[in-house]
Amino acid sequence: MKGIVLAGGLGTRLHPLTRITNKHLLPVYDKPMVFYPIQALVNAGIKDIMVVTGGNNAGDFLRLLANGADFGLRHLNYGYQEGEGGIAAALKVAEPFVEGHRICVVLGDNIIEKSIKGAVDAYKAQPSGGKILLKEVPDPQRFGVPVFDENNRVIRVEEKPADPKSPYAVTGIYMYDADVFEIINTLKPSGRGELEITDVNNAYLERGDLTYDVLDGWWADAGTFDSLLKVSNLVARTGANNL
Ligand code: G1P
Repeated sequence: MKGIVLAGGLGTRLHPLTRITNKHLLPVYDKPMVFYPIQALVNAGIKDIMVVTGGNNAGDFLRLLANGADFGLRHLNYGYQEGEGGIAAALKVAEPFVEGHRICVVLGDNIIEKSIKGAVDAYKAQPSGGKILLKEVPDPQRFGVPVFDENNRVIRVEEKPADPKSPYAVTGIYMYDADVFEIINTLKPSGRGELEITDVNNAYLERGDLTYDVLDGWWADAGTFDSLLKVSNLVARTGANNL
């Protein structure tokens, strides 16, 4: 399996912090934010990793991460996203790197306490399709939210619903087979003008080929001032991914 960390975007919710740098280079306690998703992949046994970024600060990622020695890697791959287009558009940048393998995609601002190795191994045993990881949260309307049927199967994901149908967030950790790129090619921009990862997950659900696990330990995105402060304190208290 290959790993992809998506670390592009404008980080507008964090202005002025992100006026002169990329969100994923900001500190989370004692490390740059992007360290945590890379380490999460490495801890799950995934060593062939691409970091996709963009914008004016892309070169800083190379200076910071180099060949991945901080993570025990000998090599890291880099992808450059031209312009802004949403998470699914950023993922498309990694297509030439993926070469038909299965992938684990982690959003660069998603930070987790515990290992995802169990979920990755379960996904490897799955014949095809995708897997998403869920976490119960107090504010699901900020996220993609799964809708369950009476048998606890996810039937659909709603992106930032005003009236969430469950208390779960779809976290920014996604596992897909190589069909994901065909699916991305069929997507249309959403109301916010982006190719949404939620639409990718809904396409897999329509095929009946998306499983889910519930994440162990705490999970946070660090995309807003409050969540950045919260996750920095969580990391200071408990550590994350052995970092
Ligand atoms: C994105 C996804 C959303 C997901 C979240 C996890 O939201 O669109 O479905 O729950 O990441 O961090 P965004 O950060 O683009 O608002």
